[in-house]
Amino acid sequence: MKLERVQVEIGRGIARVWLNRPEARNAFDGLMVTELRRTLFDFGTQDSIRVVVLGGRGPVFCAGADLAWMKAVAAFTREDNLREAQAMADLFFTVYNSPKPVVARVHGAALGGGAGLVAACDVSVAALGTRFGFTEVRLGLVPAVISPYVVPRIGEACARELFLTGERFEAVRAHEIGLVGAAVPEEDLDAVVEARVSELLQSGPRAVAEAKALVREVAWRRVEDVQRYTVERIADLRTSPEGQEGLRAFLEKRKPGWAP
Ligand code: COA
Repeated sequence: MKLERVQVEIGRGIARVWLNRPEARNAFDGLMVTELRRTLFDFGTQDSIRVVVLGGRGPVFCAGADLAWMKAVAAFTREDNLREAQAMADLFFTVYNSPKPVVARVHGAALGGGAGLVAACDVSVAALGTRFGFTEVRLGLVPAVISPYVVPRIGEACARELFLTGERFEAVRAHEIGLVGAAVPEEDLDAVVEARVSELLQSGPRAVAEAKALVREVAWRRVEDVQRYTVERIADLRTSPEGQEGLRAFLEKRKPGWAP
């Protein structure tokens, strides 16, 4: 597929996916949503890809939904309007549900859906000075399809405050509330992202996918409801070829086969 809105670089098991619409600050229009979703879904199915890194070309990570496109939706039928909203929801779910770890490299600004994309990622590193905000209410909208990723991440209290005020806040606060895992000087951004990627490459590929699914399954559930599932996961993984290799490697004081 020829990509117009997204740029991809692949090497050493890492897929770097760049939102590439800098003239509109990487705002999501229909084409961006389609290309990004398809690209991320495809990487999820490829054994050779171990980690996905998401970043933005130009001065900002992502300015959220394309506001001109959102305005134009008023002329759509209700059905088409719902279909477009569903496509956006599917994009965030693709990140959340991907068997690959997705790392967000965030700079400049991450607003609305851009902040939602950060919340859907597994690991996120932001440059100090990056502006965040769930600014939808300022436009008479709500941060709807991103809310299932944002609310668990930052908690109900912070979500109420930030969703209702629509205020912009900086990377330090984004870090304090758990929206990003680290806020670092801009000149260190790439080095810190690479360090996170290196950590992820030490982990067994199947184990990473299973760990991501594990968090999703147990979050917000009663222990009694998930215990059987957790018992089965460890029983399956420790007897799997990957689990056996990891255990053997430790006992033989060597790196496992998947480690670079
Ligand atoms: N949708 C569509 N176009 C957008 C956009 C968006 N979300 N965000 C920025 N753009 C466009 C601007 O209209 C402008 O287009 P123009 O050159 O044709 O006038 C261009 O991108 C550059 O925007 P500008 O504001 O000059 O860039 P900046 O680098 O000074 O600021 C932002 C970047 C992201 C901080 C700022 O553009 C912004 O606040 N955007 C709105 C974000 C928002 O409210 N998103 C909520 C989505 S629900």
